Amino acid sequence: MKAKMTVNEAFTISQIDPRIYGTFVEHLGRAVYSGIYEPGHETADPAGFRQDVKDLVKELGTSFIRYPGGNFVSGYNWEDGIGPVKDRPARLDLAWKTVEPNEVGLHEFINWAAEVGAEVNMAINLGTRGIEAAGNIVEYCNHTDGTYWSDLRRKNGAEVPFKIKTWCLGNEMDGPWQIGGKTAGEYGRLASEVAKVMKLVDPDIELVVCGSSHAEMPTFASWEATVLEHTYEHVDYLSLHSYYGNQKNDIESYLTKSVGMDNFIKSVTAICDYIKAKKGSKKTLNLSFDEWNIWYHSLEEDSKNEPWQHAPPILEDIYNFEDALVLGCLLITLLKNSDRVKIACLAQLVNVIAPIMTSSGGATWRQTTFYPFMQASRYGRGTVLRHNLDVPFYSTEEFDSVPYIEAVAIHNPEDNEAVIFAVNRSTNEPIDFSAELQGFSPTSVKEVSTISGHDLKQTNTESNSPVVPKAGPAVKIAGCNIGTVLSPLSWNMIRIGL
Ligand code: AHR
Repeated sequence: MKAKMTVNEAFTISQIDPRIYGTFVEHLGRAVYSGIYEPGHETADPAGFRQDVKDLVKELGTSFIRYPGGNFVSGYNWEDGIGPVKDRPARLDLAWKTVEPNEVGLHEFINWAAEVGAEVNMAINLGTRGIEAAGNIVEYCNHTDGTYWSDLRRKNGAEVPFKIKTWCLGNEMDGPWQIGGKTAGEYGRLASEVAKVMKLVDPDIELVVCGSSHAEMPTFASWEATVLEHTYEHVDYLSLHSYYGNQKNDIESYLTKSVGMDNFIKSVTAICDYIKAKKGSKKTLNLSFDEWNIWYHSLEEDSKNEPWQHAPPILEDIYNFEDALVLGCLLITLLKNSDRVKIACLAQLVNVIAPIMTSSGGATWRQTTFYPFMQASRYGRGTVLRHNLDVPFYSTEEFDSVPYIEAVAIHNPEDNEAVIFAVNRSTNEPIDFSAELQGFSPTSVKEVSTISGHDLKQTNTESNSPVVPKAGPAVKIAGCNIGTVLSPLSWNMIRIGL
């Protein structure tokens, strides 16, 4: 099989917003307790955070971390997580049926995020709370001094305001499982008033309003339209959430999940633009895909969980080789939509459906999905180029005309390189892949890296990590063309010096 990609320096999709390499830490399972935070651990810093985890988070290169939930946030009192730890209440977390000790709260998390080099994306509770608590937390975090909440922050040890820029107005408010779930009309009204007040406290913040929990929700599309009718002029992004799985154990159709993601993004973009037209607004609303990942391996196990434990292991999916390929396709899809998707958060970061795993009191390891994310976050910087891709197609029950290659080309002028990420979806055929980089003068092959050749179900574990990128395949340069052969079922990164 042959595939030809054509790009031109002048034809671009968008500058990549670094927040597209976001992740997510929720007070859920072992994400916080015995994930990022484990005071008794041999690598723990004086604040109780594991250094080995911090090192892996930095290696992953996530630039933006959503916190503290997720479903958790809809029953959370943010004030429980400030002040002396010994005075903080333990609470029932009704979202995950666990006990939350509140040892880690605002200050601890914000300090940790700064250490790993990531910006915090704060979610507020619009399940059980509303306007007042939302205004107060913005004042606490972002107002300099001289008021009750800003002075309380200073008293609690943070003289300089946190200046949190991006805020989520609740979480999955359409979900019947959500604490304080709402109809679109109820949520839209509340979110618009909350947004107004938050921006009165700090006009520099940006707000993400909740879209549907996923595209199969019965109210999908009408939820978005109604919520935006209320909030369009007050908010900056609309959220999308989606999780994928290979429940049918069919690799050909599993690899098309990114086509579903692309359709979802295009549909939500259309709804935003419909409301823009309806309102005659000059503002274009962008998207925050603030929960995306593969999630299905742990579902059965989690249904057996005993309630009211502290930090039980839940949602601990162990990812395999095929998951890494699918995650690669999903990442490429987000990048190809970077003109509208400005924020995206891989859900989540540590232990809970995560690229990074820890054992309590023990070591850390990188899941298979760690690597495509790390390579994209490290080298997928700059501008996404528009491309034409000539490649054969296949069809599944769900989608027609799925290209055998999922790919994206990026120009990074700062590092003088062009980067191509490509997944070969064919289960048995190598593909002769060429790319014509019009307007560019390729000078060298800086790096070629692939994840390929594994059993589809191969996983990494604490003691053995076979699914890692390795060098290759060989890439030839001829003028502005490059050529290589992509193995069947492979994730590939090609970095060309310009
Ligand atoms: O990421 C796990 C959960 O998935 C989040 O808490 C929730 O928002 C979503 O349903």
